[in-house]
Amino acid sequence: MKISQVKKNTLAFAIEWSDGSRSQAPFIWLRDNDQQELHPQTGERIFDLTSVDLDIQPESFDFTEAGLTISWPNKQIPSKYTAEWLFAHRPGKAFDDPAVIQKQSWTAAQQAEPPRFSAKACYQDETALKEALITLKTTGIILIDELDDYKDAGFDFGDLIGFKRETNFGVSFEVVNKPNPNNLAYTALALPLHTDLPNQELVPGIQFLHCFKNSATGGGSVFADAMAIVEDFERDCPEHFKTLVEFAVPWRFHDQTCDIRRHRPVIGLDKHGTFKTLTFNAHLGYTPDFEPEMMYPFYAAFRELMKRIRNEKYRIEYELKPGQMVVFDNQRALHGRAEFDPNSGERYLRGYYIEHNEVDSRLRMLHKAHCS
Ligand code: OGA
Ligand code: ZN
Repeated sequence: MKISQVKKNTLAFAIEWSDGSRSQAPFIWLRDNDQQELHPQTGERIFDLTSVDLDIQPESFDFTEAGLTISWPNKQIPSKYTAEWLFAHRPGKAFDDPAVIQKQSWTAAQQAEPPRFSAKACYQDETALKEALITLKTTGIILIDELDDYKDAGFDFGDLIGFKRETNFGVSFEVVNKPNPNNLAYTALALPLHTDLPNQELVPGIQFLHCFKNSATGGGSVFADAMAIVEDFERDCPEHFKTLVEFAVPWRFHDQTCDIRRHRPVIGLDKHGTFKTLTFNAHLGYTPDFEPEMMYPFYAAFRELMKRIRNEKYRIEYELKPGQMVVFDNQRALHGRAEFDPNSGERYLRGYYIEHNEVDSRLRMLHKAHCS
């Protein structure tokens, strides 16, 4: 975009663009974002904001259609701002970010199975990985298949994306029927739809569950999109919705070695008031500690949501096969499994987490490499 006109107002330039649009460029903001005051190698800001007055004024300025040049007090070299930079960063508009992807909610009728991507393709071609990550961000769940037949195949796949998040269960966890389980996941029992680790300071972002063996009878996986559930819940039960947005619920995991607790609401919204996260885990809910008069409003709302989570409208079932790995947003896609018979065969899943910001960073780098 080209600059058509620049006018100096009291505390900002008013810029008119060649497409007829206008933007403001406040002086203090221009001074703080002087590209000459970034470290030449690291690109980090080295300018000291307190070294100038808040109401700093340009000494003089000049512009062409390609940029704006400003002389600032106590700075020898005039600062240059390209039209491209000024337009991309105009205040009040979010910058383009390839990791910001519109989410689409889904019900069982709309998406019977998680969208599928080949691990082999992702290893061979970064654009395949990029497509997989974009779909993960859109739908909250994908299935990776064609993993090689070894125990670490799913774990190693994570290296294509980013650093793994370690928790009290380790960098990865083996989901098998164990003799002395510290978690219901390590039994053969059914696991109702849930979020993993709502008791943590940061609820794990993306969860990976690699199926290495699944010859036992039962143990089918179930998933549901909390975004669809919460959208309907808000429309049908606005009072209950408000309760679950506002009440900070206590969550706790404890065993022989740890006691990890956190209060957080069941429903998290973004700054526009739209769905961001759902934290739901009936097993890790600690004893509610609200004021007595808040108990019934809370339980009424929580039970209503619980019933809706179980509704077939949202629930999809999928039997993971060896060589497949389900990858989902743990703060959005609820997951669970049917009971299985541990004597009928071997069921071995291995899980790990990677945080959202790792996935976002990878997506930006893939975008830079393949789209610009
Ligand atoms: C878990 C879990 C699902 C499964 O380990 O948190 O939900 O299919 N496992 O065993
Ligand atoms: Zn789980």
